[in-house]
Amino acid sequence: MSSESSTFNSTNGGVTKRLKVAVLAGDGIGPEVTTQAVKVMQAAAEAEGLVIECEHLPIGGEAIERAGEPLPSWVLDRCLGADAVLLGAVGGPRWDGLPADRRPEAGLLALRQRLGLWANLRPVVLYNPIADASPLRRDAMDRGIDMMVVRELSGGLYYGRPSERRAHNGGAAAVDTMWYTSGQIERVARLAFELARKRRRHLLSVDKANVLSCSRLWREVVEGLRPEYSDVAVEHMYVDSAAMEMVLRPWRLDVVVTENTFGDILSDLGGALVGSLGMLPSASLGDSKPGLFEPVHGSAPSLAGRDAANPLGAILSAALLLQYTLDDERGMRAADRITSAVLRTLEAGYRTPDLQGSTSRLVGTEAMGDLVAEAVARQEPAKTNAPGGNHL
Ligand code: NAD
Ligand code: IPM
Ligand code: MN
Repeated sequence: MSSESSTFNSTNGGVTKRLKVAVLAGDGIGPEVTTQAVKVMQAAAEAEGLVIECEHLPIGGEAIERAGEPLPSWVLDRCLGADAVLLGAVGGPRWDGLPADRRPEAGLLALRQRLGLWANLRPVVLYNPIADASPLRRDAMDRGIDMMVVRELSGGLYYGRPSERRAHNGGAAAVDTMWYTSGQIERVARLAFELARKRRRHLLSVDKANVLSCSRLWREVVEGLRPEYSDVAVEHMYVDSAAMEMVLRPWRLDVVVTENTFGDILSDLGGALVGSLGMLPSASLGDSKPGLFEPVHGSAPSLAGRDAANPLGAILSAALLLQYTLDDERGMRAADRITSAVLRTLEAGYRTPDLQGSTSRLVGTEAMGDLVAEAVARQEPAKTNAPGGNHL
């Protein structure tokens, strides 16, 4: 159920939109980067006449410590009643010894499942001012990187059963199951085709059809949709080869659609390409709201509590939250404000430690958040166009 509502605002003569956002900061660097994302989101909301009410809730290790389980049912209920969920990260060495279903990560997987989320959009975009943080050669970077990894989020090895350890011949064995239905594949492939239509009309479908049954079904379903989307150029590639393509010719890639595990792995690779995993945001969407918005990175335990994490992936996730939750002109404007504020802050030379570079002004997590929030409020035009344009 949605609490999204509109009320007439007599001060500016326009309509004030109210959004209820469940904020799940989680573990490790999660709380630090989420604090910055909320600050920037509120600055953008204010500039656009939006009112955002945030409710802070525990998930993952934090929830285990407070309530004995990684996703307490009352937290799930609060999320289901929100317009959107903003999440930091879960997990850490403290909880690594717990049984699979009680680990912090199980809380995140259950949340995705219970919210009915099946498409995880992970834009991999190079911000030109930090091109020197990428391991790629300068001539490769000059061609730009702007791809959208569409990761299937409801199936595959993550949710297939059986998934367990067994005694076997006096030793141990383990089984995980990769399971996909044609329906799961079709809905995410359609979404990827639609996105490609709004972008550069190129779709790369990634699988392992030379080995896996699920991948053969995947390829068959994507091929079946081709006639309906004849304006989109479709290419299939095995995942091993696709990983190489991402490194050698990233500029060629537009929309990349793939199953759950492959999407998890390839998106981290994308983070490395654009300078830091800390730069990548994501949006997880289903048939209805709320969506879930979270950076691609994890809890980075070694950085926690040191004001050293890059908050830009979390901040850009807040931009995606505004864009996809409002789904109108104002949401797009609010998202653009954040994206261009990030670009202007990087143009000004500010860098967190993960983005080393010769001209850098080194700042911590909080200062980076403050700089972006101030840039949102100032709204000067950026020197270059915001990467990703208006289709993040
Ligand atoms: P990680 O993403 O936390 O870290 C990988 C590397 O990237 C580390 O070197 C880390 O320092 C760096 N890094 C990550 N985010 C950064 C940021 N914002 N700024 C600067 N550097 C950053 O992955 P990991 O080390 O494999 O996992 C750590 C924990 O996080 C595990 O418990 C894992 O299960 C969990 N995890 C959670 C999520 C999530 O909540 N969505 C995602 C991935 C991993
Ligand atoms: C991610 C993470 C999660 C995943 C883990 C923490 C369950 O790696 O969001 O990329 O594998 O989906
Ligand atoms: Mn991951």
